[in-house]
Amino acid sequence: SVRLTGTKYGCGGGGCGACTVMVSRHQPATKTITHYSVNACLLPLCQLHGAAVTTVEGIGSTKTRIHPVQERIAKAHGSQCGFCTPGMVMSMYALLRNQPQPTMEDITQALAGNLCRCTGYRPIVDGCRTFCQVQTECCQVKGGGACCLNGEQTAGEPEPEKPRLFDKEDFLPLDPTQELIFPPELMAANPKTLTFHGERVSWVSPASLEELIQLKTSNPKAPLVVGNTNIGQFITVCLWVGAGCSLTEVRSLLEKLVPQFPAEETELFRALSRQLGLLGSQQIRNVASLGGNIMSANPNSDLNPVLAAGNCRVSVVSDGPRQLPLDQDFFVSFGKTLLKPEEILVSVFIPFSRKGEFVGAFRQAPRKESSFSTVTTGMRVLFSEGSRLVQDVSIYFGGMGPTTVSATRTCAHLVSLRSWDDETLSRAYDVLLDELVLPPSAPGGKVEFRRSLTLSFLFKFNLEVLQYTSMLPLPPPLLLLLLLLLLQHVSKDQSDQDPVGRPIMHRSALSQATGEAVYCDDMPPADGELFLALVTSSRAHAKITGLDVREALRLPGVVDVITAKDIPGQRVRKMFDYEEELLTDSEVSCIGQMLCAVVADTRAHAKRGAAAVKVGYEDLPDPVFTFEEAIEKSSFYEPRRRIERGNVTEAFETVDQVHEGEFRMGGQEHFYMETQSMLVVPVGEETEFNAYVSTQWPTLIQDAIAETLSIPSNRVTCHVKRVGGAFGGKVMKTSILACITAVAVWKTNRAVRCVLERGEDMLITGARHPVLGQYKVGFMNDGRIVAADIQYYANAGNTVDESTLVAEKILLHIDNAYNIPNLRGRAAACRTNLPSNTAFRGFGVPQSIVVVENMLNDVAAVLRRPADQIREINMYRGPSVTHYKFEFSPENLLRCWEECKVKSDYAARRRAADRFNRHNRWKKRGMSVIPIKYGVAFSDGFLNQAGALVHIYKDGSVLVAHGGTEMGQGLHTKMQQVASRELHIPPSKIYISETSTNTVPNTCPSAASFGTDANGMAVKNACETLHQRLEPIRQKNPEGSWENWVRFDQKKLNYLRLGPDLYMDWDKMEGRPYAYFTYGVSCCEVELDCLTGDYRTVRTDLVMDVGRSVNPSVDIGQIEGAFMQGLGLYTLEELKFSPSGLLYTRGPSQYKIPAVCDVPLAFNVYLLPDSHNPHAIYSSKGIGEPVLFLGSSVFFAIKDAAAAARSECGSVGPFPLDSPATPERACLACASPFTQKIPAGKPGSFQPWALNI
Ligand SMILES: Cc1cc2nc3c(=O)[nH]c(=O)nc-3n(C[C@H](O)[C@H](O)[C@H](O)COP(=O)(O)OP(=O)(O)OC[C@H]3O[C@@H](n4cnc5c(N)ncnc54)[C@H](O)[C@@H]3O)c2cc1C
Ligand code: FES
Ligand code: FES
Repeated sequence: SVRLTGTKYGCGGGGCGACTVMVSRHQPATKTITHYSVNACLLPLCQLHGAAVTTVEGIGSTKTRIHPVQERIAKAHGSQCGFCTPGMVMSMYALLRNQPQPTMEDITQALAGNLCRCTGYRPIVDGCRTFCQVQTECCQVKGGGACCLNGEQTAGEPEPEKPRLFDKEDFLPLDPTQELIFPPELMAANPKTLTFHGERVSWVSPASLEELIQLKTSNPKAPLVVGNTNIGQFITVCLWVGAGCSLTEVRSLLEKLVPQFPAEETELFRALSRQLGLLGSQQIRNVASLGGNIMSANPNSDLNPVLAAGNCRVSVVSDGPRQLPLDQDFFVSFGKTLLKPEEILVSVFIPFSRKGEFVGAFRQAPRKESSFSTVTTGMRVLFSEGSRLVQDVSIYFGGMGPTTVSATRTCAHLVSLRSWDDETLSRAYDVLLDELVLPPSAPGGKVEFRRSLTLSFLFKFNLEVLQYTSMLPLPPPLLLLLLLLLLQHVSKDQSDQDPVGRPIMHRSALSQATGEAVYCDDMPPADGELFLALVTSSRAHAKITGLDVREALRLPGVVDVITAKDIPGQRVRKMFDYEEELLTDSEVSCIGQMLCAVVADTRAHAKRGAAAVKVGYEDLPDPVFTFEEAIEKSSFYEPRRRIERGNVTEAFETVDQVHEGEFRMGGQEHFYMETQSMLVVPVGEETEFNAYVSTQWPTLIQDAIAETLSIPSNRVTCHVKRVGGAFGGKVMKTSILACITAVAVWKTNRAVRCVLERGEDMLITGARHPVLGQYKVGFMNDGRIVAADIQYYANAGNTVDESTLVAEKILLHIDNAYNIPNLRGRAAACRTNLPSNTAFRGFGVPQSIVVVENMLNDVAAVLRRPADQIREINMYRGPSVTHYKFEFSPENLLRCWEECKVKSDYAARRRAADRFNRHNRWKKRGMSVIPIKYGVAFSDGFLNQAGALVHIYKDGSVLVAHGGTEMGQGLHTKMQQVASRELHIPPSKIYISETSTNTVPNTCPSAASFGTDANGMAVKNACETLHQRLEPIRQKNPEGSWENWVRFDQKKLNYLRLGPDLYMDWDKMEGRPYAYFTYGVSCCEVELDCLTGDYRTVRTDLVMDVGRSVNPSVDIGQIEGAFMQGLGLYTLEELKFSPSGLLYTRGPSQYKIPAVCDVPLAFNVYLLPDSHNPHAIYSSKGIGEPVLFLGSSVFFAIKDAAAAARSECGSVGPFPLDSPATPERACLACASPFTQKIPAGKPGSFQPWALNI
């Protein structure tokens, strides 16, 4: 009701940071004010009594004064779609309130819990690092070729000045004295008991421990939600910490104590502090309590194994106090401890360590930070003084059972053998393996990996113990974050006023950073507005036998239930020869299929109503989930495509060697930060509707709603102000959701809003297609590939959506950068009982090319030659023709390749990596250089059209409308630049309000990297015409101003401009499906921990041919963002389905997209100079999608490192590594002696926890 919409809601589970706000409290004991960042979505409002909450609106505004944090993130180009920006701003702001001059480590820690799907984080970090006192200025940042990171010195010659993305000198200074003060009235507040009653819940905040004990005794089942208890006392032999201390407080206490005591006494403190640094995010640690972590008895708790191994105790009270050891008996089962329901944990005893005692703590998680661990451990050994004779050992693991588990037998074994040496340890591994057994179908899966981690951790602990006892130096941590961007210069002749080619800030960046930017769900409620919640299928393949909505209708606030029968017009969306039902009432074909929708007065009521709908099912036999099942049952969508050049079959007869392989890659969730959102409002007369939708294709929404309601399109206007990220996921699926919402409006005659929860969004709206590629390749011993035959299967899910088009695009890219004279590709979209997959940035290309590149890697491995040599030998050279007979010049591709090798200093670093590998057994470095040739535009020519409407008002201000939507890619900013150049006026006179179907009709989707090309031409065309029309007026008054001239011209114009005539003839297997190619090359180096599969991208160099960039900051933003999304696709993001087809990974806690910890330590982007493109506006090139594939260079670098690890035990030649190369896969691929010990479950003898789709 106060309309503070800046704080965003991205997940509701503490996993994305979009909702970050700052909480400040007065601490009466210390008379200080504490400030800390929190996830608003997790914080009960009742808990905030006495606290001051600062949201993004509170720190600055474009109307008054923006805060330096807001300014710097915006001006450093750290805001694209902007949905994550308020959260980023507040995390950084809270840090600065505590530390006005933070270190880089502080910044990366503070941002670790904030996800951004657009930027790739570099610009956000770049903006924030301007607050650091000491700025890291390595030779790379300054632009030298060689780098001190590799132990090389740069020549001392001064570098010529390079264009910069932003000017630090322009920034407002940070003045801590200007910050908001803590409201004095909150300081005076006395603690008193507070009681709140909600519709279904009562909340009591007791003022004293005694009162809490009484409450807990009378309500033993009531959960305890922890407040802000203060820190306990400590004396020099032991430390008691209050159970209510936040984890941040515990960590800072431990860090304060460590330097005050001899190192041998603080072993446990350091181990705990290390775990605490990696546990959750800053926002979580700021509110999560020590007691809560223990009492949650989560099997993956990072603290419990360390506390237990460290001999900690807890003090509890109820009717009387008692102390309990934190040992294997304390953790009873999942979520259950030895405490009685009425007992309260008051404090935790953390002992100082003794001489000869070592404590280790390790964790391995799907992502380095802000991720629950897969396996986590605490280990302690006590040696007799001055010896290696074992007196006591304790080892605990998390992630190896339903609760924290003790490796008791292993400990007993180690104690019994007394001496801590290699022989004892090697027997201990066998005991441990035998002791901690996981059944092959254990919940959470990753059974082999988890078991191998227990051994690896023990081995690592041993290494640490040895390192301490023999005082070996620890390897330096990888911490630096270095960045170099090389932009193109604008021509010297270009006027200063002309913004084209310059790094202009995203036009809404400041509004986004201040929280003023309006997204769909920020729109104020319309009069009588209802909320819509969906009811979805819980079966993968079943007949619906009943839909009972009576209970739902009885619930408070529920207004109606919308079913298929309520649809007045077309009940299906048609795609090719297939139909997709909007709401199904007869048969379901996947879990998550939409059945009906409940509309109610509030979100909560609608959701409760949806949960109360009862659905009857009768299961149908044999659901199809996997590729293998689809192939066996020939379950495909038609048409299946095939393309061939040369004579593949004959060519295989002539080659020196033939190799066959297979590559499987998983899908990818779009994870746009703003979930699917829409508001449909009835105008109130003549069946007219306004649809405000977060979509990439307003015209599709308009048409779809009109068909569904059986009304003409002229009664529906679709408006798109901005989209909080889309990546292909807000085209087809959005139209279906908008149709259902419109039916609810039609039926109730009230405005209806639908905003999906993250979990629903992930369940319902599909993802990138998982792909299986099977290849046969024939090559000569000199490395020339003569023939290749590749069969692709894409898992399309239960409806066709755009899957057959994805399959086509897969085939059009099977040549990538290589001239393979005999090349055959076949592609089939498999019909399965999984949620229907859809478009995703790259539209099949990332799946297509990774198979090809893997094939090249295999050829290199067979021939025992470096993979980059095989790539080079086979590249297109000179005037070339693709396998679909399209002529092109690969010159810029080859230039990117050469430039990338030079800029990355590939040859020297390759040698350095090999040297590193010779000297390190358990850590390996891997490198790769990967090219891309990406076809830009829609291969169906009719889609390459655009329109623009340009109004010049009498005051000289200009309103531009075009058909593209702004979803973070900076399209509106570029269009403003185009209009500015063409009209010869500054961008400040030009405004773009929204995209709507009543200004520019019949538009094409903003997709296929074609937004700027198409809409730019349309805006240019409209502006040119207006400019020409003003010419006579200008001539009459050459000294006049723009304002004088336009007073005469009040005409409005609307022009459509056709793009190039593109087509693909699949019968003839030829065509011109693309306007041109965008080229790029990425060189990547990783360091892989072969014991755990943990990897770090040490350095990435990207050379991209973007033609002449219209806006280098926007283009670099697209390049980095796409690269990071690709890095996620190929190394991190895993969609997991249950054996019955239920998506397990339905939120950021299970599904990991890249976070700031995943940014390469050195990340250099170069725009290829002197590149021109006659086919697009101002000689630029589409760049939104191509770079995503280059994220695979991280994958291939990991594979290279794994190959080095395998060669240690004599294993050479091709080996399988599927995508994503998660720590699990990378570790198993290394084939270490530990992974070799784990017996693999016999396929078919058990049901795995997750499907291998
Ligand atoms: C996004 C996210 C990421 C996370 N990542 C990690 C991670 O990487 N590693 C990890 O270990 N944990 C992680 N956690 C878990 C987090 O650390 C715990 O949820 C937290 O420590 C619990 O503390 P709390 O104060 O919030 O407890 P609450 O949620 O308030 O309570 C948890 C339970 O403990 C009981 N309880 C709390 N205090 C007491 C007490 N004093 N006496 C008796 N019972 C009590 C409550 O009744 C309740 O049942 C993560 C959580 C989130 C949301
Ligand atoms: S919405 Fe709160 S962390 Fe995602
Ligand atoms: S700008 Fe960060 S999610 Fe879009």
